[in-house]
Amino acid sequence: LDEKGRRVFDLRAQEGSRDFGAGGRTRTWGFNGDYLGPTLRAKRGEKVLVNVVNGLDEETSVHWHGMHLPAVMDGGPHQPVRPGATWSPTWTVDQPAASLWYHPHPHGQTAKHVYRGLAGMFIVDDDNASNARLPNRYGVDDVPVIVQDRKFDGGGQFEEGESLGGVGILGDTILVNGTVAPYHDVRSERVRLRLLNGSNARTYTFGMADGREFAMIGTDGGLLPAPVATDRVMLSPGDRAEIVVAMRPGERVTLRSFPEDQGTDFFNRRFTGGGDTLDVLELRAADDLDPSADVPAKLAPFEPLDEADAVETRQFRLAGRSINDQKMDMNRIDAVVTKGTTEIWELTKLDGTPHSFHVHDVQFQVLSVGGQPPAPDLMGWQDTVFLKQGSTVRIIARFADYADPDMPYMFHCHLLTHEDAGMMGQFVVV
Ligand code: C2O
Ligand code: CU
Ligand code: CU
Repeated sequence: LDEKGRRVFDLRAQEGSRDFGAGGRTRTWGFNGDYLGPTLRAKRGEKVLVNVVNGLDEETSVHWHGMHLPAVMDGGPHQPVRPGATWSPTWTVDQPAASLWYHPHPHGQTAKHVYRGLAGMFIVDDDNASNARLPNRYGVDDVPVIVQDRKFDGGGQFEEGESLGGVGILGDTILVNGTVAPYHDVRSERVRLRLLNGSNARTYTFGMADGREFAMIGTDGGLLPAPVATDRVMLSPGDRAEIVVAMRPGERVTLRSFPEDQGTDFFNRRFTGGGDTLDVLELRAADDLDPSADVPAKLAPFEPLDEADAVETRQFRLAGRSINDQKMDMNRIDAVVTKGTTEIWELTKLDGTPHSFHVHDVQFQVLSVGGQPPAPDLMGWQDTVFLKQGSTVRIIARFADYADPDMPYMFHCHLLTHEDAGMMGQFVVV
């Protein structure tokens, strides 16, 4: 804490290299190290200050994905940090406990910066009583799992060219927290995994290789109202989920991504990973496991936003690299939202390519998918939602607390190649 009582973090974007076993040291970028960055952690009500130093030779930025904060602190394309410069955003964390993340967002260059390794998790804590009953020993039974796919060229360097299908690079090597062939030694009866799809393009459908069920306890913006017993959780780029897996002494079980119909057409399925089976993380249980409490039946209070309160309904149609037939323009504001009001946004995907819709500043609720109420795992707070062809997703959000007529927030497809190619728009809250 500094003299003003703020929790201070230092992040330095820098070049590095790492041996991924790909036939040579791979040139990488990282925060404070060679690849990825430290987990930042703050509690609801705390004021934070982050000193972001750009140690790269080109402009970057750092965006706080999922964070509710003033637009000037958001770290999007309007807050570039020049080489050698320091940017020091500060804000008060005021949202439920959640697994958020941070990553660069420079105009048209996000895919490259994230792919080279600039990303990290930002965990928000709060006083909700279920926190004490859930596994919460960081790195022991409460583990960040940043999942990324990477492709290496013959010299062991990251392959950065655009893929055939135009969604971006799909890798055949899975990294978890920057590690190839990862495993985690489990020492307790339950382990909580904070899953983050930090990949540029790939969508995963996670499950356990032996088919066992687990408890899904959280989504992008925090804990679900109640745990959902399931054997699958699908995460598109930018998405998070928290799950709790029960383990028996001495066993090994692998977190895997299974083939899944991603609502793409046949041509695109080949290029978007919908047909792939990939092992992600092996859990290795000790012969003696510490006891873990049962997952609480109620996790977090949840008040559904009321459709009747919405003052505006907007349509967003995604196709190709455009939203509503327009490409990102730094000087165009696409939506003006009144502070303190609630809006409904209707998201429709018109083409056979996958798209993942993300909104800055707010956590939203899903009202319906293709006219049906959302599945239990889409209850709770979201900031990124996967779109399937032919099923309009209706979301509802309240735009509270921060207004700034001169500084927009972004909404965009979180397939980073699409974002960079212009599949992004801007809204201001006034
Ligand atoms: Cu995760 Cu606009 O970003
Ligand atoms: Cu974001
Ligand atoms: Cu897209």
